[in-house]
Amino acid sequence: MKVTVKQSVAGVKADLLVFFLGQAADGEPLSCPHPHLADVLAQAQAGGDFTGKDGQTLVVYPPAGQGEASRLLAVGLGKEAPSQESWRKCGGVVAGVCQKKRVRRVVMVMPAGLVLPASAMAQALTEGLILGSYRFDRYKTVTEDEERPLAIEELVLIAEEVKTARQGAAWGLNGALAACRARDMANEPANHWTPADFAAYGQDLARRYGLKCMVLGKTELAKLKMGGLLAVNQGTSEPPQMVIVEYRTGKRGAPTLLLVGKGLTFDSGGISIKPSANMHEMKYDMCGGAAVLACLEAMAQERLRGLDVVAIVPATDNMPGPGALKPGDIITQHNGKTVEIISTDAEGRLILADALAYGIKKFKPAAVIDLATLTGAVIVGLGHHLTGLMSNDDKLAAQIVRAGQESGEPVWRLPLGKDYGKQIESKVADLKNVGDQGAGTITAGVFLQEFVGETPWAHLDIAGTAWNFTEKAYVPKGPSGIGVRLLLELIRNWNFRG
Ligand code: BES
Ligand code: MN
Ligand code: ZN
Repeated sequence: MKVTVKQSVAGVKADLLVFFLGQAADGEPLSCPHPHLADVLAQAQAGGDFTGKDGQTLVVYPPAGQGEASRLLAVGLGKEAPSQESWRKCGGVVAGVCQKKRVRRVVMVMPAGLVLPASAMAQALTEGLILGSYRFDRYKTVTEDEERPLAIEELVLIAEEVKTARQGAAWGLNGALAACRARDMANEPANHWTPADFAAYGQDLARRYGLKCMVLGKTELAKLKMGGLLAVNQGTSEPPQMVIVEYRTGKRGAPTLLLVGKGLTFDSGGISIKPSANMHEMKYDMCGGAAVLACLEAMAQERLRGLDVVAIVPATDNMPGPGALKPGDIITQHNGKTVEIISTDAEGRLILADALAYGIKKFKPAAVIDLATLTGAVIVGLGHHLTGLMSNDDKLAAQIVRAGQESGEPVWRLPLGKDYGKQIESKVADLKNVGDQGAGTITAGVFLQEFVGETPWAHLDIAGTAWNFTEKAYVPKGPSGIGVRLLLELIRNWNFRG
């Protein structure tokens, strides 16, 4: 999709020309700059069909010969000044209309005089439109021509401040497309998205953007004593991979940010097998890995400066096949710590532990962030609206909270601490992989903390938000692509170290 910004709507051709209108005070007319639409709106308002309420829409056909748009759309903004998130939702609402009306070219008129900067408004509208028109239908056979959905080809934004709006639109386009790529990876079923596919994606990224990609296969993993990833991999015939992609700015002394994403391509639970209901959803257990690769791709496209970023995805299935890891087994992680396996279904922390310890030793990052669909407990605590955040560094945590708010991917910080650490003490090993006495999300967090040392680190538990995320106009059912835009927002504003 192409996005352009123009100052005036005059002469602009469109399949759909969109105006956003605030709710009028009682008895007041709606204010609309388009004369024909204004007339129709006056009638619609009198009939109570359209009052400018938040999320309301009205499609109008202009009289022949008037203007260059074949359809007009009014979208209600409600009474309050719209936030960035409201604009994102507006973009999603427009996407819905575009899909129904088979629109190829959509033009949105950004209202002037609202508090939000033009860049933020343009970014949010672009994001909402792209995220809201996302579909995954590559495995659906098309029967009738009618049913073939159309993709939007072009978005034109009309804005007074063309230059600032352009910057916002570019960020919006790039971030939203990256989130859609993460959704695509997640939507691929486990028989079509294996650890080898993660490796191929990383290598392709490296080739296209001139980055460095290193893939550690079974032999290298064994040499490096990655006991966690290898243990989880024991029960599957699908070989494990650790995919490492480096984005370097070329600036000497630039700090490194390490991103680690859980790439569990299918989580059956292993010998501690999961109940069969909804087990198919465990193909999404790789959403953290998808997010970090998609984020790196967007960074490379934007040529973001000032910060080196390394993404690591430990990838494997978790299956109960012959040779599978067993409850009671004791394994040795990359950093030498031993772990008693209580449940083979608490596998995410085992593969992340190796990746964290290895990545920190090898790349000496200024900060580390991991993203993982780690615990069902985070859904119990926060539902599907907030990502769980745990961190050993207040500054990093604050930056992530801010980026979460800005991106519409909010996070909520949970505590860590010694008391929780006691819950994962084992009688026979250094740690056990399941804590007793509740707080399942936090005990998983303190487990990971054992592998990061003093490095500033944040853990995002996205089990509740990676799919089934809060229903919004720009978040369709299925995987949300969560984390991609949050990370990009964080990286675009990287300043937590002064
Ligand atoms: N991938 C799951 C976590 C999960 C559960 C994500 C539900 C999304 C929805 C993870 O590997 C897991 O199975 N965790 C266990 C841990 C338990 C055995 C301590 C869980 O949450 O049940
Ligand atoms: Mn599991
Ligand atoms: Zn899992």
